[in-house]
Amino acid sequence: MSVEFDPRLVRALRAARAVGVLTGAGISAESGIPTFRDAQTGLWARFRPEELATAEAFRRDPALVWDWYAWRRGLVAGAAPNAGHRALARLERLVPALVLVTQNVDGLHQRAGSANVVELHGNLHRSRCFAEGVVIAGDPGAGERPPRCPRCGAHLRPDVVWFGEALPAQALERAETAARACDVFFSIGTSGAVFPAAQLPLTARAAGATVVEINRDPTPLTGAASFSLLGPSGTILPALVDAAWPAT
Ligand code: OAD
Repeated sequence: MSVEFDPRLVRALRAARAVGVLTGAGISAESGIPTFRDAQTGLWARFRPEELATAEAFRRDPALVWDWYAWRRGLVAGAAPNAGHRALARLERLVPALVLVTQNVDGLHQRAGSANVVELHGNLHRSRCFAEGVVIAGDPGAGERPPRCPRCGAHLRPDVVWFGEALPAQALERAETAARACDVFFSIGTSGAVFPAAQLPLTARAAGATVVEINRDPTPLTGAASFSLLGPSGTILPALVDAAWPAT
């Protein structure tokens, strides 16, 4: 499929010394991972993600919340990075510096080959003690739901950020620094509904960057973006990288 881009955007990308990228659930949609604000289906249709992704929900019904994440972990294990993830990994190799900040907890950027990834909301493939915070790597096997902390016996929770919780400070600091220092900033597949992530494109814009939004639908950022590319990221991103580096 051929996609036409504004030549000013292509020139800005080619000339960029530093690129910042923020991704959200939309970039993984074409890998078959449901986004947060699309309606849930099947078993989970009765619940809103916002009601499952909280410490309060976990306290109330730990098995329910654990099972929801176990279901998402299963989906991710059976999924593969798509052309959008792969185009970002390629872009990282083409520009002098790129920081990829993601709100996703699925690890698909790393599986696509991106190296400089900042995870703002944690990662599904780790757990953490609900009482003491000790982090446990790897997917816990079947058995008690949720499993128990090997050290203190408290429940394990997924090592992700829930509503009402603070983001990992170092990750947020790296993301903000990248937004302030880049020439081009991409906001891809995110509804812009959750802060502080949604602030990053505005920080980049205020610091003088060219802000490019790629999304299936308009968002609150659309009016403030330098360029808004409406459509699926799995089509638009590879086409944009091809347009800027035709010979690669
Ligand atoms: P959302 O589900 O809020 O938004 C997904 C966005 O992706 C929407 O704007 C869709 O229009 C867009 N989209 C869907 N398919 C697309 C495609 N193929 N190509 C491009 N865009 C597409 O997901 P996030 O913005 O990531 O936080 O949500 C932010 C945070 O809220 C999540 O990290 C999570 C959630 O609750 C926590 O769990 C803390």
